Amino acid sequence: MIPLFDLTRQYKEIKDEILDALNKVIENGRVILGEEVEKLENNIAKFIGVKYGIGVASGSDALVIALRAMDIKEGDKVITTPYTFFATASAIIRNKGIPIFVDVDKNTYNIDLNQVEKILKNEKIFGIIPVHLFGQTVDLEGLSYLKEKYGIKILEDCAQSIGSEGIIKGQIKKSGSVGDAAIFSFFPTKNLGTYGDGGMIVTNDENIYEKSKVLRVHGSKKKYYHEIVGYNSRLDEIHAAILNVKFKYLEEWTEKRINIASTYANYFDNWKLSLKYPKILKKSFKYHVFHQYVIEFENNKIREKVKNHLQDKGIGTSIYYPIPLHLQKCFENLGYKKGDLPVAENLSQTTLALPIFPELTKNEIEKIVLEIKNALEED
Ligand SMILES: Cc1ncc(COP(=O)(O)O)c(C=O)c1O
Repeated sequence: MIPLFDLTRQYKEIKDEILDALNKVIENGRVILGEEVEKLENNIAKFIGVKYGIGVASGSDALVIALRAMDIKEGDKVITTPYTFFATASAIIRNKGIPIFVDVDKNTYNIDLNQVEKILKNEKIFGIIPVHLFGQTVDLEGLSYLKEKYGIKILEDCAQSIGSEGIIKGQIKKSGSVGDAAIFSFFPTKNLGTYGDGGMIVTNDENIYEKSKVLRVHGSKKKYYHEIVGYNSRLDEIHAAILNVKFKYLEEWTEKRINIASTYANYFDNWKLSLKYPKILKKSFKYHVFHQYVIEFENNKIREKVKNHLQDKGIGTSIYYPIPLHLQKCFENLGYKKGDLPVAENLSQTTLALPIFPELTKNEIEKIVLEIKNALEED
């Protein structure tokens, strides 16, 4: 068995530290918004290179709260990608905004900024939520150009990209440091994940910071005095304590993910299989942190054949994402139809995520690639 993702191997390595951290929180008795949350907020903000972090209950909540703290109004239009997890777009609807889906680039799978600019030239747009999908940084230079030129807000969805980097004016910057705000998810499978749900908003903007902090505790600055109607959405101390332990290993785990991706790529290069896979580009910065390792086949039939074969051999895979967001039932009223965003629609039929987690071994990778080869050679 080679699972798509395995938390238990990692836990074996850090078990004592995790149990110790949990014990400290429980013995200390401060389990909501205490020193571990504050420490994590500082750790993450510093790591990303921004002033503030606000721990919340999930990445999904982080999106909803951050957008609201950015002062989105009913009917405001927000551009985003159709090829992402549902939460990216539902946060717009939950703030009574209107999502405008723009197709993705066929190589990076990230939102196509040229198409975004065409819309910005013709329509009044509140902002953009770019997603650094699968861990690959959206063109940061392009984002900051659009922000300056069109005066729009940017909320970066970094749920999958913690630690990924891009370049602005010759300087290396982390994803999450360019927008008005950014969000992270600490869902268990994420590159930095806890044993449950958790999320964070980061920002340099004092207003967004203050408003997000108030929104996460039912809109109250002073206990039992409510200025606005907010949410109950806090990152638990227990999760923050786990994440503070894991944070120390994040860079090491990221390096391992990048090495795994390059091992996959070496096999695919050498064996010349007919599929598309992420090429490892020689860059001086981490343009991709490989939250997922996603390959692409010529068509759906081949993908299904490979997927089924791997399943029979005990190898886990997943399809991210089988239905692009503009074709989801709950967004029917937005008026999109099949064919509107062809690149995302095609990817939803042809891509397959392979196992990737820091503890995956070279032998396992070789076995996975061998079974893909066998599947492709089957009649
Ligand atoms: C791109 C993206 N945005 C948002 C989220 C939401 O995060 P969470 O699961 O922590 O609510 C996720 C994670 O699942 C995600 O992958």
